[in-house]
Amino acid sequence: MVVGFVAGATGFTGKALVAALAQGGHAAVAHVRPDSRDLAHWQEYFGALGAQVDTSPWQAEALAETLKNRRVTHVFCCVGTTRARMKAQGAAQNSYEAVDYGLPKMLAEAAAKAGCVTRYVYLSSLGAGPGAKGAYLQWRWRAEEAVRGAGVAWTVARPSFITGQRDQERTSEAVAAKIADGVLGAIGALGATTVRDRYRSTNDARLARALLRIGLDPAFANQVVLSDELQR
Ligand SMILES: NC(=O)c1ccc[n+]([C@@H]2O[C@H](COP(=O)([O-])OP(=O)(O)OC[C@H]3O[C@@H](n4cnc5c(N)ncnc54)[C@H](OP(=O)(O)O)[C@@H]3O)[C@@H](O)[C@H]2O)c1
Repeated sequence: MVVGFVAGATGFTGKALVAALAQGGHAAVAHVRPDSRDLAHWQEYFGALGAQVDTSPWQAEALAETLKNRRVTHVFCCVGTTRARMKAQGAAQNSYEAVDYGLPKMLAEAAAKAGCVTRYVYLSSLGAGPGAKGAYLQWRWRAEEAVRGAGVAWTVARPSFITGQRDQERTSEAVAAKIADGVLGAIGALGATTVRDRYRSTNDARLARALLRIGLDPAFANQVVLSDELQR
């Protein structure tokens, strides 16, 4: 029996992933931070999907206990901050180091300690790598390295832009994705379909289905999965 634990469940991809788990007939646990101002809303929202809500604090011991007690088999980490969050909610607490690196690392170590987790799927980003440019992709790379070294079977997913109907529209991301898809469409028409497939955008539902598929498939254990595979 698959018991999927989704960290970042309240986010754009996380919500779709909880839905995909539940629709697939799996037990779904949506992690919501305990101090969430919208906890009642999330209880109702995830309850309607047939998922459970977990509000364990972001502390290594507590998370390991939770994963063990709930007999979680698959952990999906979809957390991430933004520059807007840093500005609005405090730069230190919401930095890439604290969130994009610190939380996936803590959760991977907790998953290893719990002993019941057979796969840890980390949602990273296309462009993450040792020589990546910019703080966001550099911290993503460090998080990937921490996940790979945690002692649990892992899968790292690196999607390109994630588009779709967000609660709060991110105009710059949507525009960038449209431009990229337009350019890539032209490139594809010229025959470079590999390049087009690697960089074109995906959407929340398609990405969620792909994360679930690669998380359950033994062939993707300890593999980095790029954007084109996540389009299938
Ligand atoms: N958007 C893109 O085009 C794109 C492309 C490639 C990769 N990615 C990566 O994919 C991931 C998911 O993207 P998304 O668009 O689904 O993200 P999103 O909608 O912004 O969701 C982010 C999630 O992280 C949680 N979170 C943020 N700061 C936190 C903190 N300090 N403590 C605990 N939880 C925190 C949020 O919880 P609350 O709701 O409680 O704040 C939310 O559940 C991100 O990490 C992103 O970097 C995104």
